[in-house]
Amino acid sequence: YQKKKAYRKRLHGLMRELAVYYNHTLKGEEGREALAYMKRRGAAAQIMPFGLGYAKNSFDDALRFLKARGYTVKEMLDAGVVKQKDGRVYDVFRNRVMFPIQNVFGDVIGFGGRVMDDGIPKYLNSGETVIFNKRYNLYALNTVKKRRNLKSILLVEGYMDVVALAAAGIATAVASLGTSLTKEQARLLKRYTEKVYLCYDGDDAGLNAALRGVDILEKEGLQVFVIVLPDKMDPDEFVKKYSADAFYALAKKAPAATNFRLFMLKRGFDMENPDEVVQYGTKAVELIRGLKNELEKERYIKFLSKETGISVESLFSQMGKGKEEKGYILPVKESNLIKKEAGEEAR
Ligand code: UTP
Ligand code: MN
Ligand code: MN
Ligand code: MN
Ligand code: MN
Repeated sequence: YQKKKAYRKRLHGLMRELAVYYNHTLKGEEGREALAYMKRRGAAAQIMPFGLGYAKNSFDDALRFLKARGYTVKEMLDAGVVKQKDGRVYDVFRNRVMFPIQNVFGDVIGFGGRVMDDGIPKYLNSGETVIFNKRYNLYALNTVKKRRNLKSILLVEGYMDVVALAAAGIATAVASLGTSLTKEQARLLKRYTEKVYLCYDGDDAGLNAALRGVDILEKEGLQVFVIVLPDKMDPDEFVKKYSADAFYALAKKAPAATNFRLFMLKRGFDMENPDEVVQYGTKAVELIRGLKNELEKERYIKFLSKETGISVESLFSQMGKGKEEKGYILPVKESNLIKKEAGEEAR
């Protein structure tokens, strides 16, 4: 165990040295194009705060740098920064703007690298290694968690969203690491906040991912609000086109989890069509029935009544009805029968 720990430390050292090297490269002669790219994206001032860098367009620049610093090829392979193919060892990241990924202790554990044109993959991320578990980490949480009076954390899709929000003065954003949100990441957030604003891209993929994200965050006991961006924009595009204040305004009226679920459900129906309004109302009642708190149920039934023009009485009656129906369609388990009999005896 001690040996393993020492080895992990060694790899953390390797990653930090490489991150610093990438950062120097970005600021040097060979980083000109990458620097121009970051300037174009309005993120040049974020290079130092986020330790952004540039990986040269070379097969072995990182390899040679790390070798000179005393690291072995095995260590580089284990850190996931070089690959081996047909006996040749070469750099994983080439000609990319580099985003170092830190764990909450500040160790550099991985990288995300972006191409500067429309090449694919747009982002290349470190693979899983002994020091990099994507599902247990969030980009930028290390810096966000240090903020005083942290009232909430903003969860976004991309590295550039985090960076662009910071450039706009909104420095509470974290991102998952090129994968969908995990329960481990939700638990990690819960260590630093009670409240999460989820702001994924405004496209269908982002909205659907938000729907899954809300479930995961709520299960870990977090209070969730969802910021829905217009015109399929992402946070980066939104703050650039509008402003940080416009973003705060959206956050202020961000729907809570249940409202967001109803909003997503409603998208599937033509609310101009009375039959579809009834279909929406029926589905929405099922969703509200699942809430644990009776007061909340009343609140959302009232909300739904306003939305659909269906009376509160009808909605409540439908909600009660569904309960029985559900009981009938459920397969009868022995344990259910026993409970029922016991209940009847009690009467
Ligand atoms: P997006 O496609 O929304 O990219 O992916 P983006 O963050 O807006 O990036 P820019 O503005 O074009 O630079 C969101 C996130 O999904 C992961 C990355 O973590 C990215 O930040 N992703 C995306 C990948 O890992 N690989 C990809 O090829 C694309
Ligand atoms: Mn996206
Ligand atoms: Mn995408
Ligand atoms: Mn995006
Ligand atoms: Mn973007």
